[in-house]
Amino acid sequence: MDGPTDDRTTPSRVSRRAVLGGLGAAGGLLGVGALPGVAGAASGAGTPGSTTSRVVPFHGRHQAGIVDPAPRHATVAAFDVTAADRSGLRSLLEAWTIAAERMTRGLPAGPVLDATRSPNDPGEAMGLGPSGLTITLGIGASLLSGDHAARFGLLGRRPAALADLPPFEGDALVERWSGGDLVVQACSDDAQVAFHAIHALAVTGAGLVRTRWSLDGFLGTSRGTESPTPRNLMGFKDGTVNPAPAQFDRIVWADAEPRWMRGGSYLVVRRIRMDLAQWDAETLDDQEETIGRIRSTGAPLSGGTETSAPILRGPGSDRILPSAHIRVVSPAANRGARLLRRGYNYSAGATETGALDAGLLFLAYQRDPREQFVPLQARMATTDALRTYLTTVGSGVYAVLPGVRPGRSYADLLLG
Ligand code: HEM
Repeated sequence: MDGPTDDRTTPSRVSRRAVLGGLGAAGGLLGVGALPGVAGAASGAGTPGSTTSRVVPFHGRHQAGIVDPAPRHATVAAFDVTAADRSGLRSLLEAWTIAAERMTRGLPAGPVLDATRSPNDPGEAMGLGPSGLTITLGIGASLLSGDHAARFGLLGRRPAALADLPPFEGDALVERWSGGDLVVQACSDDAQVAFHAIHALAVTGAGLVRTRWSLDGFLGTSRGTESPTPRNLMGFKDGTVNPAPAQFDRIVWADAEPRWMRGGSYLVVRRIRMDLAQWDAETLDDQEETIGRIRSTGAPLSGGTETSAPILRGPGSDRILPSAHIRVVSPAANRGARLLRRGYNYSAGATETGALDAGLLFLAYQRDPREQFVPLQARMATTDALRTYLTTVGSGVYAVLPGVRPGRSYADLLLG
């Protein structure tokens, strides 16, 4: 029972911790492959060359998990804060910072206790390594308004850009899949590592938060000769057009005001269910006209390859119909508005009416949703041919904190 992934503290464990330079018993027990700076070392969690040892740095000017490439798995969850007061919220955010930073290094969320206590970490990621884990925290408007804001001393903190989303035509929002005081996006090369991050934060925050909703997402990134752009569950390449790094300041990162959001972003989450049975019954021509691209290659119907700019005006432009998705949401049709899209496919069983409950866990980062997501979605909801096949059943908008500097915490960013 005393194997390499057993997390009990015994005298021999303690001496091993000392050998590993005082990282804490939990760190030592995960094996050298899980330690920062030795990614790829052949021991414990990481096999050489495998992605399990990939580390995405937690600290920085911006939070990780926004502009870095999306790995194959995500678990996104929202929590409601049940802490009684500001100091409870501070404890939660401080504990979450420590847990998040540790997990992104492949360590358990908290130090190992003796076996007479409940573990600090639920344990299912032992041996799986950091696996490129990123944890991205956002604040919901509900934490910054009304009674909540008063309880936590946050009145007047709500950024103007964190406005409630207006109702959109065709939405059928389910309350328990929407909103939340806090949102956490955990992305990883390993589905279990992503789930574990959310689970461990729920354990860490026990008594201070309640889980409101959670959804797992996946991406089927091609390993072969195809372009790496993943396909959505309608079969089309999704994620071809996204801002380039030189555009991030203008499109992704929050404005200078309020100051505490400098280096942050705004995240819109939408749980968009696809009517796959209806979609699957359409002809390939109709499907391609609905999107405005060729299913196999991802090229625009106006010609070229996947990365060619669609021709939306002049000769050749008539092949992309006025109602085609890529025309309706194009910057040209929306006064230049753009988004950083980071969506995942989801599958959540079956609906009450006997269809797959599957679709897109739409995640979009932006500088100001009032000028970006809202006008795009409003147009899409009224004129996009794709809308016939979609029902948005969950929705949320969150202020994503700037990055955490070493020695600082999420609490310092939000509470000062
Ligand atoms: C299930 C729902 C959706 C599906 C299946 C879908 C599918 C696609 C596909 C296949 C593309 C073309 C490839 C690419 O550039 O990534 C695309 C592009 C795009 N989509 Fe969607 N999309 C969905 C929802 C949305 C929503 C809700 C928005 C925003 C309100 C949106 C905004 C965009 C934008 C901005 C582009 C890039 C357009 C360009 O600049 O050319 N999509 N989408």
